[in-house]
Amino acid sequence: MNISVNKDAFSSGQIGSKIWLCEELENLGWTSNLTYIYGGWYGITAFLLLSRANFKVKQIQSFDVDPDCESVADMINENWVWQEWKFKAFTLDCNDHVKGSADLIINTSTEHFDSMNWFDNIKPGTRVVLQGNNMPHDDHVIHSETLEDFVRTYPLSSIAYKSEKEFVYPNWSFTRYMLIGTI
Ligand SMILES: C[S@@+](CC[C@H](N)C(=O)[O-])C[C@H]1O[C@@H](n2cnc3c(N)ncnc32)[C@H](O)[C@@H]1O
Repeated sequence: MNISVNKDAFSSGQIGSKIWLCEELENLGWTSNLTYIYGGWYGITAFLLLSRANFKVKQIQSFDVDPDCESVADMINENWVWQEWKFKAFTLDCNDHVKGSADLIINTSTEHFDSMNWFDNIKPGTRVVLQGNNMPHDDHVIHSETLEDFVRTYPLSSIAYKSEKEFVYPNWSFTRYMLIGTI
């Protein structure tokens, strides 16, 4: 298999944000039969959650509209793909109808989604973990200047956690936002 990956997926800003997600989700003590990850890219969030094994989840399915992501995410998570598909990646536009009924939906790619359909289609009562940021970037459709902005964009019926994390580097910095709760 010829693989070309975007190295940014392994940058400290991406990995640090996903470790933060793992820590806060684990702190809530929630369990999940089926977790969907929208815009799951290379499946790093799933890899971290499953490796840490503190968040009790029976199955994780990762969806990305980019067909190149599926084989990479499955390769990274091979340890769980072969365990009766405890992990599986799929190629799918999450703004279309997503079949099945996950009890938890994670989206750390909110800034890349070009419509709110994915959010509006989530069944009320479903728990979500959402991340966004204030990074100016050509690929970003949604820009949240503050945590309050971010929280306003994704209205939830109840919020279990909301916060922001600064990533400061010698030449630049950005803030990541995270919102965990129930639609
Ligand atoms: C650059 S990556 C992820 C950045 C993010 N901060 C993270 O690490 O989760 C954004 C991903 O969202 C995916 N994406 C964008 N719109 C999508 C959609 N409608 N359905 C599924 N995946 C989507 C892209 O294909 C891409 O793989």
